Amino acid sequence: MAAALKARLRAVAPYSGFSVGAALLASSGRVYSGINVESASYGLTVCAERVALFKALSEGERQFDAIAVVASVAQGAMPCGACRQLLAEYAPRAVVFTADSRRPGVVRKFKIKELLPLAFTWPDARATG
Ligand code: THU
Repeated sequence: MAAALKARLRAVAPYSGFSVGAALLASSGRVYSGINVESASYGLTVCAERVALFKALSEGERQFDAIAVVASVAQGAMPCGACRQLLAEYAPRAVVFTADSRRPGVVRKFKIKELLPLAFTWPDARATG
């Protein structure tokens, strides 16, 4: 969560003004941070969680233990559906920690399976035709 809070300060969110920070812990012990990066063509925006995941995957990481996500939102920064899908595919065992950046000591904890039950995964789809 400390790494996510630090990353959040670097968010590139000129359109929404909503800064998100993420930090993904790989089984190697390395932590990959992520921020949301927005585009003038709004739909090209990428969430903090996916930036962290793509950075880690591109460095060769394949096993993940946890991800922390933080933004200034009362319930804590819940990952969007697209990020849940990618986490279900590439970090299925990661514990998800979320917090409100204004109360970073109050951390909620989720399993990916709770956040995205019955996820679509490619090998399953292929096996069943
Ligand atoms: N955002 C994230 O970075 N992560 C989420 O899980 C939800 C949304 C970003 C995308 C956009 O830059 C801003 O928050 C408002 O949607």
